[in-house]
Amino acid sequence: MLQYVSTKGGVAPVDFETAVLRGFAEDGGMYVPREIPQVSEEHLLEWSNLSFNDLAFEILSLYIDNSIIPSNELKALISKSTGTFSHPEIVPVVPLDKKSDHFVMELFHGPTLSFKDVAMGFLINTMDYLLARKGETASLLIATTGDTGPAAAYASCGKKTIDCWVLYPRGFISEEQERQMTTLGEPNVYAVAVENCSDGGDDLDVVIAQMFEDQELVENLRLSSVNSINWCRVMFQAIHYFYGYFRTVDKTGDSIVFSVPTGAFGNLFAGYLAREMGLPVQSFICANNRNATVHRVLETSRFSRKKLKQTPSNAIDIALPYNYWRFLYFVSGQDSEAIKSWMSDYQDQGYVAFDEAMMKGIKHGFCSVAVSDEDTLSTIAETYRADSYLLDPHGSVAVAAANALIPSFDPGTKVISLLTAHPAKFPDITRQALKCEGNLPSTGLHDSIEKVKDQFQQLRLCDCSKLKSALIHGMSEEKANNN
Ligand SMILES: Cc1ncc(COP(=O)(O)O)c(C=O)c1O
Repeated sequence: MLQYVSTKGGVAPVDFETAVLRGFAEDGGMYVPREIPQVSEEHLLEWSNLSFNDLAFEILSLYIDNSIIPSNELKALISKSTGTFSHPEIVPVVPLDKKSDHFVMELFHGPTLSFKDVAMGFLINTMDYLLARKGETASLLIATTGDTGPAAAYASCGKKTIDCWVLYPRGFISEEQERQMTTLGEPNVYAVAVENCSDGGDDLDVVIAQMFEDQELVENLRLSSVNSINWCRVMFQAIHYFYGYFRTVDKTGDSIVFSVPTGAFGNLFAGYLAREMGLPVQSFICANNRNATVHRVLETSRFSRKKLKQTPSNAIDIALPYNYWRFLYFVSGQDSEAIKSWMSDYQDQGYVAFDEAMMKGIKHGFCSVAVSDEDTLSTIAETYRADSYLLDPHGSVAVAAANALIPSFDPGTKVISLLTAHPAKFPDITRQALKCEGNLPSTGLHDSIEKVKDQFQQLRLCDCSKLKSALIHGMSEEKANNN
């Protein structure tokens, strides 16, 4: 049976069920599979025409033992999770303009209009299934830069086994994103607006990490995490790389490039995972905004901390891409000691310096661009003008980065830019980019967003400096009330 180990190497290996329900490993590391399952060329050929759900079943079966989730139950969990999507293909791929080899994959057809829905529905349905079987409950604690929170809140609605606490840095997310969490009216969903987060969502991650380090607290509050710390999220996101590949290449075996708007590196790690499994990816473009942490690693050989800047692509305003530790773990040859020492370097001195051998591994099949705010806005405007396609600011970062690097690839190289959110979540940015004051283009609107515009919002307010104690108090009180 495939086992999961911690990137810090300090806990005994666990099975899929434990890795999913715990979220964080007890030593503060992140769960990863002991070895990455391999997919042969024959498998790739067999999978090339599968529907999203059938492909998901094949890929997930490599990670989830039948004795933990039997095949028929796994299939049911997959269809329940993708059943909330409004597009029959779940994640359709379309050419950006009819003449080029630049495609976009629309990852925003889920219920809260961002790519987080792709894996979150499956993760929360799976947790609910496992918890109900054990007769247990869990409290999910989630920090969001705008899209994870709505996806988790929506997927948790009505679940008897789950309480969902979503924390967001007030003023750092769009009103539309906020309303997706605060208008649900579900008794098991708690939205917490956190004020005075100078480092945005990173401030919340720090508090959450502190709470998960306290094992007594984790037990008492039955805490779990569904941020992309949770293995299930990144594993599920590997599927859309396979799916996009099969829908785009002329023949199986050809290679491809993906451009990925990158914040916490969860989605990009999933791409790396797909490639390590055997998907022929020539290169990943790490599309950063001005908070260019990963771009700086490739440019300077240093993984360094810089003050967070607010940009039009707010969901990727992240200073510490925590899934990078998972990537570094595999690139270093699964060296937990190195991870521990790099994590303490990062904490103590604010950066990690890599040697030449490590940089060779880090750069293998990766390139990067740091897209400016101006280019994010002008790419929205130009793509709309030239291709009548309205991008959201995160998709725009991916497309801008791809446009910058396509001339350096061999002619005919197929490139897929991942579109991670629907533009209806960011009407102010669309207006700014298109320089229009009044009505938005119809593709910039969405019924689900319009519907909640005039509703009351239900939220709890808290100052960042008091967040930990407020959460402990509030969560304990709710638990007591519900028992
Ligand atoms: C719209 C959008 N695009 C891209 C990302 C970046 O994904 P990741 O954090 O997995 O790098 C996020 C979330 O952080 C997001 O919400």
